Amino acid sequence: MNSFQKNKKISSQNNRNVTEKQNDTVAVEKDEIKLKLKDISKQFGGDFALKDINIYVKKGEIVSLIGPSGCGKSTIFNIIADLVKQDSGICDVYGEISYMYQKNLLLPYKSIIDNVCLPLTIKGVKKKDAREEVSGYFEIFGLEGYENRYPNELSGGMKQRANFMRTFVHSNDIMLLDEPFGALDSITKMSLIEWFLEIRKKLKPTVMLITHDIDEAIAISDRIYVLSNKPTVVLEEIDLSSYDKNVDIWELSAMKKEVMKIIEDNRN
Ligand SMILES: Nc1ncnc2c1ncn2[C@@H]1O[C@H](COP(=O)(O)OP(=O)(O)OP(=O)(O)O)[C@@H](O)[C@H]1O
Ligand SMILES: [Mg+2]
Repeated sequence: MNSFQKNKKISSQNNRNVTEKQNDTVAVEKDEIKLKLKDISKQFGGDFALKDINIYVKKGEIVSLIGPSGCGKSTIFNIIADLVKQDSGICDVYGEISYMYQKNLLLPYKSIIDNVCLPLTIKGVKKKDAREEVSGYFEIFGLEGYENRYPNELSGGMKQRANFMRTFVHSNDIMLLDEPFGALDSITKMSLIEWFLEIRKKLKPTVMLITHDIDEAIAISDRIYVLSNKPTVVLEEIDLSSYDKNVDIWELSAMKKEVMKIIEDNRN
């Protein structure tokens, strides 16, 4: 048994017995749950994508999903956002969802401020009022002075921040971010992650995010769900909430090795 299992930082969902599951449920329900997926399964064309997925997110938490390409991470988000219907299981959402898709969907013919206003104008808010409402966020999101620029005038990191801002304007209650740092080089990614953690302190959203990058997941998350190859199950749930990300460097690097071993073992 390694040090993390001893400390119960890692728990294997598949190996839990019923009593442990019940205890977990009691412990979890003391905090406010924003998202709860219970025994979610989904097949596409007779091929199992998701099998009995159990995931929850508490208010103010940042929870990551990591897993191999094609295992069903975006499908989980689509089920939460009610864009895809699960075959079985229950998906409870306690709040308003905003969803940042895997692809950058800023409209090239609209200025940044009008892109950010879109969730409001679609709801029927007048353009002038929408602009007024979002203008205060440009400083927080590091885009002050770029309100009237167009997406092709922004760097990759700036476009990601504009994308974040638009998602946030739609709702800061429960944010689903599908590979928000995916297309960036490592230096831009690290600065955007630092920026994201600062935003989190100020605005305290509940966030679920998808990533392929274990370092990114460890740097950002309170908890991580590690998903398997298809048929996709939750291999591990990793609780990082008690670590200080700036201090417990050794523990976190050992944890990274542990996560990589879990993923490697699942591949074999
Ligand atoms: N609408 C659909 N119709 C048929 N198959 C689908 C549909 N949506 C997803 N799939 C299949 O379900 C599986 C999971 O897809 P999904 O996009 O959720 O994976 P992912 O984990 O997000 O992958 P990636 O990391 O590459 O983004 C894949 O095999 C995909 O081909
Ligand atoms: Mg995906």
